[in-house]
Amino acid sequence: MGWGDLGVFGEPNKETPNLDQMAADGMLFPDFYSANPLCSPSRAALLSGRLPIRNGFYSDNAHARNAYTPQDIVGGIPDEEILLPELLKKAGYINKIVGKWHLGHRAQYHPLKHGFDEWFGAPNCHFGPYDDKTTPNIPVYRNAEMAGRYYEDFKIEKNGESNLTQMYLQEALTFLQSQHSKDQPFFLYWAVDATHDPLYASKPFLGTSRRGLYGDVVRELDYTIGKILSTLISMGVANNTLVFFSSDNGAATYSKEAGGSNGPFLCGKETTFEGGMREPSIAWWPGHIKPRQVSHQVGSLMDLYTTLAELAGVDIPTDRQIDGISLVNTLLTNTEKERPLFYYRGNQLMAVRIGPYKAHLWTWTNSIEEFNKGVNFCPGEEIPGVTTHNQTDHSSQPLLFNINKDPGEKYPIRSTTAEYKQVIQNIMPVIKEHLSNLKPGKPQLNFCDPAVMNWAPPGCDKNGNRCLKAPPSNLKKCVWDH
Ligand SMILES: *[C@@H]1O[C@H](CO)[C@@H](O)[C@H](O)[C@H]1NC(C)=O
Repeated sequence: MGWGDLGVFGEPNKETPNLDQMAADGMLFPDFYSANPLCSPSRAALLSGRLPIRNGFYSDNAHARNAYTPQDIVGGIPDEEILLPELLKKAGYINKIVGKWHLGHRAQYHPLKHGFDEWFGAPNCHFGPYDDKTTPNIPVYRNAEMAGRYYEDFKIEKNGESNLTQMYLQEALTFLQSQHSKDQPFFLYWAVDATHDPLYASKPFLGTSRRGLYGDVVRELDYTIGKILSTLISMGVANNTLVFFSSDNGAATYSKEAGGSNGPFLCGKETTFEGGMREPSIAWWPGHIKPRQVSHQVGSLMDLYTTLAELAGVDIPTDRQIDGISLVNTLLTNTEKERPLFYYRGNQLMAVRIGPYKAHLWTWTNSIEEFNKGVNFCPGEEIPGVTTHNQTDHSSQPLLFNINKDPGEKYPIRSTTAEYKQVIQNIMPVIKEHLSNLKPGKPQLNFCDPAVMNWAPPGCDKNGNRCLKAPPSNLKKCVWDH
């Protein structure tokens, strides 16, 4: 989902009444970011509180490439990473993930090996249908075992009809009610992915949006958020439950009118322009977060790690760099902390934001070869010298924007101005310090092998043998096109 998909952020069809109400009852964060413009690294960063370059969710097979966890990926979240649910467990929380994991699909990387107590959902994107011969369909797990596969047991029809979001909602509500009845603190990571291609919505929502299928999907997600919040209210635990809504990357502008909106921001998913990483974000905690607030705190999904740990009363690890900061004061008193925000694409630091200024050290959309094939990350938004098709190194003289005045990154501040010189003088030492202290993690997304696909997930031998035969191993460096 993109920043511009919510009515409260100006989407003209105004089809998100529940999210808009959530914002009205809580705190809206227009300046909130994912840690990466792509799903797997973004989610790994959210759960580890650390940039993908540190937690290993990147590849150095080629320079500045977006990598993720397709079915043939060999790597996953390293055991040394201490994930948010592992921290919360120390405070007695029961942790559940519903939906897409994306931190590695091989058994050692599964959520239940990394702090979650329960899981209903899939390890990968819901791509398919596949033939189960060259490629297996993606499994859906209930806890540590496969419960079936997408397209076979969990249907997604060609017209986009699927009940998955409703199933994921039911899982959430049942979990909330059961934890409440036990008076048990809980952490629910509700990581649904219906806005991801191929889009799906359930029948009551299909054809109901003015925006087509993508809008139907957004409407269904909006409805489900309303249900989750009203359930917390009716259980009487709303003032004891912090809910945070966001997205793991910008809308997929390359899908054009079927790909959602990033509002006034440049480009989308896969890029380190604002459209790739600025996320529609709302915090809700009646009785603690006052209604009708807007915070211009420059926030990151990695801050949830630090913030939730503080609220639960557990210490964050001190033996490693944590990139999240605590937003407890921001939430409770609407104060702001200045902090640099680092935009990475694969192994390359592409840009840095401090205050209203964003400096691009590198620019790249995608290669001209891909672009000529019709893959356009910035449809209708070509800005000469900015949305470059060559990886362009500006590190000796960064491209500088004031993104408060110029959210579309259209008007670089001229390098001859006093403003430019002053700002760059402040930003350069921050970049230097970041890079000189950086210890990149071992890259997890370098190797692919068809033998590791979801042929025979744990539990496949139950309920009528659903195990498939894996092909021989063929370990290769993964190819990341962009
Ligand atoms: C969704 O659920 C309804 C009601 O149970 C059912 O009739 C329908 O076939 C389901 N749709 C899909 C695509 O599974």
